[in-house]
Amino acid sequence: MSVITFGELAVELLPRETVLEGLERAGQRIPNSCRSGVCQSCLMQALDGEPSPQSQRGLKQTLARQGYFLACQCQPEGDLEVALPNEVLREFQTQVVGKTQVADDVLVLRLELPDGFACRPGQYLNLAVDEVLRSYSVASVPERDGYIELHIRRVPGGRLSNWLHDQCEPGAACTIRGPLGECFYLAEDDSDFPILLAGTSTGLAPLEGILRDALHQGHRGPITLIHGALRREGLYHGDKLRELAALHPNFTYLPAVRDEGESGDVALLLQQRFAQNPAKNTRVFLCGAPELVNSLRRQVFLQGAASSHIHADPFVMAPAPKVN
Ligand SMILES: Cc1cc2nc3c(=O)[nH]c(=O)nc-3n(C[C@H](O)[C@H](O)[C@H](O)COP(=O)(O)OP(=O)(O)OC[C@H]3O[C@@H](n4cnc5c(N)ncnc54)[C@H](O)[C@@H]3O)c2cc1C
Ligand code: FES
Repeated sequence: MSVITFGELAVELLPRETVLEGLERAGQRIPNSCRSGVCQSCLMQALDGEPSPQSQRGLKQTLARQGYFLACQCQPEGDLEVALPNEVLREFQTQVVGKTQVADDVLVLRLELPDGFACRPGQYLNLAVDEVLRSYSVASVPERDGYIELHIRRVPGGRLSNWLHDQCEPGAACTIRGPLGECFYLAEDDSDFPILLAGTSTGLAPLEGILRDALHQGHRGPITLIHGALRREGLYHGDKLRELAALHPNFTYLPAVRDEGESGDVALLLQQRFAQNPAKNTRVFLCGAPELVNSLRRQVFLQGAASSHIHADPFVMAPAPKVN
């Protein structure tokens, strides 16, 4: 069995236990959120020994070469000496400067933009309050707007989302780490390529950021944003998006309410819009509920989108605790 050394502590991992689980069993608090290898909040560094290849999947090569790995994915073959990362993901202190309820279960939160925090709309950051750390996507264009906007869905029983909805007030201090993720607009030699953006609920956050960034950078190709919700009240920011569509003839906003027939089917709308655009150069951005994002990703790939042009951010949450 592998022995994990963390400072003064040495923990022998149980069969199939990850480094994160082993250290938690020994009473250590290691930052984590999705526990599925997506959010990178459990990043650690191996000072001695080899982390498993699986635990370095998705990390930048420069990080992997320095021994960084995701503790929630690491079941090493041998012993490891590990440490928490220092300066890899920069940490910034900030505060809440605005809070608006935009739907029953969705809150728009504005954070002060800390000096030196450079991020692209659509990327995500890890927000930490009192040692609880979760990922949220950036909906604003921070360098132009001067603040960071996040959209927070209330998850029943969820620790951070409920605290943000019910207790957090303007002035509350928090820490952000990042930015992370590859879901953002990249102006290329020409700006004529079609863009399709699709997501449900707060999946709108990164999509709205990408949309505004693309329009601001003068994107000329057609842009379609499909926003799905369970009920009409969940289609927050509809007025803003309709205003943008009226100002920019190349932008189409398609709200979709489930249970309202074909017009409410995000997958069908995406399929139809994709069929209207030349497949190979269309850029597709998919964000929100993991099952939907993964099935839409498959769908557009099978329709002919190049995999390098499909950008997806599934909002993976920690698995529910096991009930014995
Ligand atoms: C890359 C990335 C980007 C993200 N961006 C956003 C974003 O922009 N906006 C956003 O709102 N979220 C986003 N998320 C999700 C977010 O990080 C948190 O997971 C979410 O806010 C829940 O955190 P919590 O502390 O409230 O819940 P936790 O305390 O982590 O608890 C969540 C628990 O509830 C369970 N659960 C999930 N759904 C339900 C449900 N419907 N009913 C009951 N239980 C449920 C989960 O399995 C889990 O065990 C993103 C996630 C990732 C990985
Ligand atoms: S990547 Fe490990 S907790 Fe999210």
